[in-house]
Parts: sequence; C-alpha cells; structure tokens
Amino acid sequence: MKAIVFKEVKAPIYYGDFPDPIATSEQVIVNIKAAALNHRDVWITHGLYGIIEPDIVQGSCGAGVYNGQEVIINPNVNWGPDPDYPEHKDYRILGMPIHGTFAEQIAVHKDRLVEKPAHLTMEEAGALPLAGLTAYRALFTKARASANDKILINGIGGGVALMAFQFAVAIGAEVYVTSSDPEKIKKAIALGAKGGAIYTEDKWHKNLGAKVDVVIDSAGGKGFSSLMKACNPRARIAIYGGTRGNSVVNPQLLFWKELEIYGSTMGNDMEFQEMIDLINKYKIRPVVDSVYQLSEAETAYARMSDGKQFGKIVFKV
Ligand SMILES: NC(=O)c1ccc[n+]([C@@H]2O[C@H](COP(=O)([O-])OP(=O)(O)OC[C@H]3O[C@@H](n4cnc5c(N)ncnc54)[C@H](OP(=O)(O)O)[C@@H]3O)[C@@H](O)[C@H]2O)c1
Repeated sequence: MKAIVFKEVKAPIYYGDFPDPIATSEQVIVNIKAAALNHRDVWITHGLYGIIEPDIVQGSCGAGVYNGQEVIINPNVNWGPDPDYPEHKDYRILGMPIHGTFAEQIAVHKDRLVEKPAHLTMEEAGALPLAGLTAYRALFTKARASANDKILINGIGGGVALMAFQFAVAIGAEVYVTSSDPEKIKKAIALGAKGGAIYTEDKWHKNLGAKVDVVIDSAGGKGFSSLMKACNPRARIAIYGGTRGNSVVNPQLLFWKELEIYGSTMGNDMEFQEMIDLINKYKIRPVVDSVYQLSEAETAYARMSDGKQFGKIVFKV
C-alpha cells in the first residue's frame, strides 16, 4: 500500500510503498478514505515527542470503511480504566509509536471504530478524531463550559482550537477568539464569534470586548499572563498544548481572581463517544482548510508548520 512514513528525525517525510497491515485476531482492517494532520505529526518529524520509533506510518486521525460501513477511528489505544488519566502503561496514540492513518489501510481493534455521523463528508469525518476529542475534554470535562459562559479560544487557527470554538458556539455560549491573523478573526466572526483580538499586539486583552469565564489554550509561552488578565473572577483555563514554550503564571492574578488552571490530554473513550454525540446533536461540520493527496505530504506538512491553515489539513486517500 501507499503510506506516509516517519523514517528518522529531520529526514524528509517518506511517501511511498509500505507493507500492508496484518490484523491480529482482535483487530480488523479499515480502508482509510480520509485522514487529517495534527501538529503532533510535525513535532514528531522534529524529534519533539516522547516515544519515537522509526518506520512508523504517521497520522492519528482517520475515517474509512470497514465491512461496508463508514466509520471514524478513535486514536486512543489502551487509555485504561481511570477516566481521569491514561494510566495504562501501554497507552498509545495512533501515528506514533504505533502505525497510524496516513495510509490506504490500518489494522485497529474493532472497539476503536465509531459509526460516521451521516451529515459529515469523509474529509470532515477524517478531520475530527484527535482534535475533536482533545477539544471536548478541555472544554467540557476540564473547563466545565456551559451556554452561560463567555469563552475565549486562543489562537483560532489551530485545529483543536477551531473545533473547541465550534463546540462552544454550538451550545450557545458567547465566544471570543485571538489570532495572529486578522483574516482568521474575521472568519471566526462569520462562524459565530462575538469578537476577537490579535494576540501579537501589546495588551490585546483590552481589545477583546469582554472578560471571559473560560479560556482554552495551546500556546503557553510569554503571552500566558495576558490570558489571565482577560479572565473574569473564578474563570477556568484549560491547557492542552505548549506551542510557545514555558509560561510565567502571575500568582497575584491567579489567587486574587480565584482562577483555576487545568491540564488536558486527549480524552477517554467515553468522551470520544460524547464528542460524536455532540457532533450529531448540533450537526457540527469540522472546518476543513485544505485537502491533499498522500503524495503531497511535504506541501501539507509545510502548510501546518507555517501556521497558514484555518481548520484541518486533510489527506484524501
Ligand atoms: N494535549 C493533547 O492531547 C493535545 C492534542 C492535540 C494537540 N496538542 C498540542 O496543541 C498544540 C496545537 O495543536 P494543533 O494540532 O491544534 O496545532 P495547529 O493546528 O498547528 O495550531 C497552531 C495554532 O497555534 C496558534 N498559536 C501559535 N502561537 C500562538 C501564540 N503565541 N498565542 C496564541 N496562539 C498561538 C496559531 O493560531 P493563529 O494561526 O490563529 O495565530 C496556530 O494556527 C500543539 O502544541 C499540539 O502538540 C495537544
């Protein structure tokens, strides 16, 4: 089969022939139809990931066909029994260190498959799994977001960020965004954002138009104290990424406003099903930025590295 394969750190991404997967007695073979990039796939090529193995098919997100049925693949493998933490020593995410979705076929346990929501195209379904799951847990389980909250999504160009944004708008919350790009803020407003600010500007939190009760962040870095300044008292901040490195937390803001800060990783299997239920209930369609062939891997990875996207970068297989 054809696949996108991680060979070694800083080597060009390999696209080409790779052995077909062989299913164990507990696994099934899914014919992949669409698969989406996550920043994780790019970090891995730079060696920025915990467990890195050579000759692994990349990709955590995918949708396809098994036994004539259209399915979405849950990228979690062996989360374990504790819903709060993936404690299982064999916890893995598809795409590293086990083979992922950027291929014509994948072998997965049957219990990783969920019926594709009928209103989604294959590309939209393939865009969903990792970003949707991460956004769901950060927004609802950790930050306890509800329709009564004002919610700030930091860096709306991000795949997970945009998914969290769509969930927050769907439940009827008042949603604000930041971006480095005014065009992305305009696009978010067209999709239902109440307002936005450019996070590269000094004191951007004063331009947001409101103080917020929930913040969803994947940047960290020096800008983190501005997020705290954008908060109402008792606000909840959920962090699922650290794209801009270490943050300095302003302790006075933290204790004076009684802020709560949570870390959030992926999500458990129950949250995956709840996320799919939410997608079905509100007929949410993940925003697809662009669609590439697997053979166009280099161009697709470069688009993500450059941060040009608004929505998910998808491979049509
Ligand atoms: N914990 C988990 O389970 C989990 C799951 C998924 C992802 N992650 C992590 O979360 C991060 C985002 O992942 P992704 O796949 O959504 O990536 P992505 O689609 O590449 O998103 C990157 C976005 O981050 C925003 N950004 C960059 N610098 C920023 C800053 N200083 N302040 C605010 N926003 C900034 C940019 O938004 P604009 O373009 O709008 O400026 C950019 O588009 C990565 O670090 C990834 O490893 C973690």
